[in-house]
Amino acid sequence: MIAYASRTGNVRYVVSKIKAETIEIVEGLKVDKPFLLITYTDGLGDIPVKVTRFLESNGSLCKGVVVSGNSNFGHRVFGGAGDKVAALYRIPLVRKLDLRGYQADYEAIQQFYEKRVIG
Ligand SMILES: Cc1cc2nc3c(=O)[nH]c(=O)nc-3n(C[C@H](O)[C@H](O)[C@H](O)COP(=O)(O)O)c2cc1C
Repeated sequence: MIAYASRTGNVRYVVSKIKAETIEIVEGLKVDKPFLLITYTDGLGDIPVKVTRFLESNGSLCKGVVVSGNSNFGHRVFGGAGDKVAALYRIPLVRKLDLRGYQADYEAIQQFYEKRVIG
């Protein structure tokens, strides 16, 4: 499945482009199967608080991360949430998207999902 967090809709749009079972991260969510995380970036390159909390109880099932950010924040913090999650959980950073990204990104995400999450 895909577990995602979206505040202003960009990640939600990306998720709508992928054929997969999806679930939005809410407080206290517990999942029972492998998932791909798709998240936005908060603060200055930070993981959103609700994503940190979700990973604290579900991180062992996380197979990869896709991050959305805004490159106007500068390369040092662009999509920083993805770099941090990948390092903390030793999982691949599948794609770093500027806002909603592009069709080629959705294809790469779909392929990763089929090979490494449900495959
Ligand atoms: C308060 C705030 C802080 C942000 N900080 C960063 C940041 O440090 N790096 C980055 O790449 N994007 C940052 N962004 C941009 C969002 O991550 C980006 O717009 C993303 O596409 C939002 O996804 P969503 O529409 O699904 O919420 C920030 C946005 C807001 C509102």
